[in-house]
This record gives sequence, C-alpha cells and structure tokens, in this order.
Amino acid sequence: MVEPFILGIESSCDETAAAVVHGHKVLSNVIASQELVHKYYGGVVPELASRAHQQKIIPVVEEAIKQAGIVKKELNAIAFTRGPGLMGALLVGVSFTKGMSWALDIPMIEVNHMKAHILAHLIDDGSKPLKFPFICLTVSGGHTQLVIVKSANIFELAGETLDDAAGEAFDKAAKALGLPYPGGPLIDQFAKVGNKQAFKFNLPLVTGYNYSFSGLKTSLVYFLDKHQKENPLFIEQHLNDICASYQNAIVNVLMRKLNQLIKDTGINQVAIAGGVSANSELRSAILDLEKKGCDVKIPQFSFCTDNAAMIAIAGLVKYKIGEFAPLSIGATARYSF
Ligand code: KG4
Ligand code: ZN
Repeated sequence: MVEPFILGIESSCDETAAAVVHGHKVLSNVIASQELVHKYYGGVVPELASRAHQQKIIPVVEEAIKQAGIVKKELNAIAFTRGPGLMGALLVGVSFTKGMSWALDIPMIEVNHMKAHILAHLIDDGSKPLKFPFICLTVSGGHTQLVIVKSANIFELAGETLDDAAGEAFDKAAKALGLPYPGGPLIDQFAKVGNKQAFKFNLPLVTGYNYSFSGLKTSLVYFLDKHQKENPLFIEQHLNDICASYQNAIVNVLMRKLNQLIKDTGINQVAIAGGVSANSELRSAILDLEKKGCDVKIPQFSFCTDNAAMIAIAGLVKYKIGEFAPLSIGATARYSF
C-alpha cells in the first residue's frame, strides 16, 4: 500500500494544532498555544478557547501543509479530534474538517483524543518501536489512565482517576502556592532543588488500579493554611521543599499502581503519554523500570503534550482499515474507549 498523506487537527482544549504525516513519519507538527489567553484566569476558559481556535485554525493548518512541503490536493484524508474535550473547542475542529474534506473530496476520520495520546507511540521517530501488548500510563491535565494496549485498535482501560487528573493535581497545587497556570512545569522546576522528604502528604487509598488526587490537593491546602497562620512567609521560605514533597507524593501514587499492573499482568513493555510525562521525577521513575527488565518508551516531548501528529497517526490506523466518518458526525465532550 502506498503510504497516505494525512492531515491531523487537534482542538480539544487550549492548543490549536495541525500536523501532516506520511505513513508513520511526521512531516510537520504545528501548535498555536493559547497559554497567554488563559494565564490571567488561572485555568482554561472554555468560551475564550473556542474563539481562539476559530482565529488560529486556518493559519495553523496552512502552516502545517506548507512545512510538510506538499499541497492540499496531495492529502488523502483529514483526521480530527472528536472528543473528549471542551464542546465549543471541539466543534471548531469538527466543523473545519467537514468543510475542508468536502471541498477536497477526501474522507474524514474521527479520533478519540485519549487513544491518540497512546498511539503517538507509533510515530516513527527513529527509536525502537514497542511491541504489543504494552501498558500505557496517560497523564494529562484532564485525564489519568492506565491502559493495556493490545493492538493499535484494541485498548483495555485498567484504571483511571476517580476525581482530579494528575495534571490538575499539579495545576491546583500551583494555584494554592500562588504560581501561574499551568503550574506543573513550575512545580517540577522548584522541586529539582528541594528536599522531597521535607514534608509528608497523605497518599490517597483507592483500591484496584484507579487513582484519586483531590484528597492530596486538599491536604496541601490545609497544610498551607495551617503553616501560613503561624508564619505568613511560609510558602516563600519553603517553596522548593513543598514542591519537591508534593511532586514526590504524586509520582509515588502514579508509580505504585503502574508497578502493580506490570506485576499482575506480566506485561513488561511500558509507555507514558500526556503532558505530565514531561515531569522529570516521573520520567526518571519510568526509566528506572528498565533496571527491572521492562522495555520503556517515552516519546519526544512534542508528541507527549497535546499535538496534532498523534491525531494524524491515530487517523492513519483507521485509514488502513477504511474506517471513515460521515459528514453528519458531531463532537462529543465525553468519549470513553
Ligand atoms: O496533555 P496536556 O498537554 O494537555 C491536556 O490534555 O491536559 O497536559 C497538560 C498538563 C498540565 O496540567 C501541566 O501542568 C502538565 O501537563 N505538565 C506538567 C509538566 N509539564 C506539563 N506537570 C508536571 N511536570 C511537568 N514538567
Ligand atoms: Zn491531551
């Protein structure tokens, strides 16, 4: 089969992204971040996100096609994020895809954003590919999932968060510490020079492979209230140690369940996906699994955070089995496996 050119479009949250793949190779991967739009509010404002997507989608798609070195007519299909995500934001990508696929007379392919994070591991980046089945820990601002990936089309959800996502646990803690959104990268940065044994936070007790992070965030808020009453400069004086201890608690929880799943299933191929996989402590904990005999794959950072290359690759999987979407398709804010 001649490898197709597929355009991927991602607009589920606060990144407007477009990418072109040729088979498993990424020819372009363009992202317009809306970070500045939302920074002032300390979190993503859905209506502002939708409007920013509308402004950015045409230039971002044009740039992706230009950087790929092809012309529109060479595209074989357009893959788009159908969900999960913010309804207004998703609708921009879905409507744009409909118009473009109709105008070019090429098929559209609907993609589940969470599956796409996992399928980013199929991108040919020159590194050794993982064999199926593998376990994927997906950790983002909106989701935390442990998935057994049996093939490119068969996913089994082993566990997920019952409340906040791991990224939310970072972002909400950062807010409580007076740090700007998104707080994950900043906590990571301060934690590097802090002592992770300095403070103890209660680790959530959830059975099975599920996660819970809202209690951890609440225990940080109470901890800060208590200490600030005694010393108003407490955060300022202990920021590095608080970040290191709190981050360590999150990473411990994530790794505990992952290790349990590896042990119970005997699957020793492990992948990580989503924005939180940028976290340095989590990355080194995952890489340590190699010492226990696991094959580990951490994709290039630009394929871990929200991007459209992963949408295009997920589209490629469906293109190969001829699974196309009708023009009547809509977006869906909730979209399980
Ligand atoms: O996958 P992603 O780009 O978007 C979503 O689909 O949510 O993930 C964004 C999340 C944010 O919560 C951000 O704080 C977190 O990833 N994040 C980090 C780091 N870099 C990004 N969290 C901890 N440490 C980091 N270095
Ligand atoms: Zn995502």
